[in-house]
Amino acid sequence: MSKSTKKSFFACTTCGYESLKWLGKCPMCQGWDTFKEMAPVAKANGKEQRRPVILSDEELADEERIVTGIEEMDRVLGGGMTTGSAILLGGDPGIGKTTLCFEIASKLTERGVKVLYVSGEESLKQLASRKKRLGLAARFAFLTTNHLDDILSAMAEERYGLLIVDSVQSIYNPKLPMLPGSMGQVKDVATRLTMEAKAADTSFIVIGHVTKEGAIAGPKILEHMVDTVLYFEGDKMLPYRLLRTIKNRYGAVEEVGIFQMSGGGLTSVENPSQFFMSQRGEIGEGSSLFPYITGSRPIILEVQAITQKTNFSMPRRLSLGYDVNRLFILISVVEKAIGKPFFDRDIYVNVTGGMKVNEPGIDLAVAASILSSFKETTLGRDTAFFGEIGLTGELRKIVNMDLRIKECQRIGIRRIFCPADGTHDTSNIEIVTIRNIKELYKRIGNG
Ligand SMILES: Nc1ncnc2c1ncn2[C@@H]1O[C@H](COP(=O)(O)OP(=O)(O)OP(=O)(O)O)[C@@H](O)[C@H]1O
Ligand SMILES: [Mg+2]
Repeated sequence: MSKSTKKSFFACTTCGYESLKWLGKCPMCQGWDTFKEMAPVAKANGKEQRRPVILSDEELADEERIVTGIEEMDRVLGGGMTTGSAILLGGDPGIGKTTLCFEIASKLTERGVKVLYVSGEESLKQLASRKKRLGLAARFAFLTTNHLDDILSAMAEERYGLLIVDSVQSIYNPKLPMLPGSMGQVKDVATRLTMEAKAADTSFIVIGHVTKEGAIAGPKILEHMVDTVLYFEGDKMLPYRLLRTIKNRYGAVEEVGIFQMSGGGLTSVENPSQFFMSQRGEIGEGSSLFPYITGSRPIILEVQAITQKTNFSMPRRLSLGYDVNRLFILISVVEKAIGKPFFDRDIYVNVTGGMKVNEPGIDLAVAASILSSFKETTLGRDTAFFGEIGLTGELRKIVNMDLRIKECQRIGIRRIFCPADGTHDTSNIEIVTIRNIKELYKRIGNG
């Protein structure tokens, strides 16, 4: 076994676990004889201020932002990309991460930013044909490599305004004994690139693959290292994609960008309510509309439910886009209020369009959908529902009620079931104030 020097350390070649002493068995991945001695990595950050200073007004000035011109991208970034920031873009295979980065690279090149696109996954020929298919005329630099050093030397030779690395898992440092794509490699590659990019004031977008469980593959530390974490999501069978902010040091989280995907690339959907409405036909039994607010923007979503006689000894409750524990509570509350038990019925709830709604304001729409399916009656395209339902079945006020009503008015909805408030603008719209589940039950199917 090699002798340890004062400053070197040992790391597991499988998972990257670090230790000052050599270990026979890795405490993290449980692998045997996986530890190798490593030379210490110099952690120099060009942006360091190593003595205490008092910030002056100049230094407190707003960060400089580059507006990408892709509206939905600028929205999720909080008004454009901050110069020198690091962005991690995660998403399922084939969802459109590379396509999105191509569009960003092209738009920024048109705005005079020098862009370097590093691909560790596709050949130059593949990249060229993709660029042609997407109809992008802007000329920016490509580098197809898997070696970290190639990227670092390209960055040392030329100063770029934007560096895109596709993907972090495909780049490795051959000086480390760990396999490419292993946690240790991902951590090293991401640390080195983030530091270099920050030192050179280069904005940095790194693509990260997502594991089966939905987390970005590699250590969680990746998310801590960068300034912004974005997830690109959506159902591959549907034409739209959601770009969601998970973390943002330069803007609000919970902001969602909506894109439409086609062979010719991605286009921003600037009027999502209209878009989601045009995607659906008539509102059938068990469906209701809900004005959802994500970030700063309202979107009208459709909530669907089926209730049917069960074939199981225990009836099933499943939910997509709505918290299943909340569904259990809601079902109990509805059962208690109306005295029609669902004990022999399966209940399935789905928020269409792949949206995951965490706000309690959707409760009334979920209850309305369940009751609509149960009563075998339709609620119609011109009616929306919002409000939180408490444990005693009472309807509670939620935030941004005015904004929701305005969006319903704008989209042509004529009736809203919601908690009483009394301060709304009621032109062109009927506000049906509901106090509890019992009242909702009476109104559904009876006009
Ligand atoms: N020739 C084509 N015509 C139409 N659409 C295409 C074509 N090629 C790719 N696409 C669309 O682009 C999507 C793939 O996009 P992209 O390669 O950007 O995804 P990705 O997230 O980078 O995938 P990966 O994880 O494999 O890198 C496909 O799912 C498909 O919808
Ligand atoms: Mg890709």
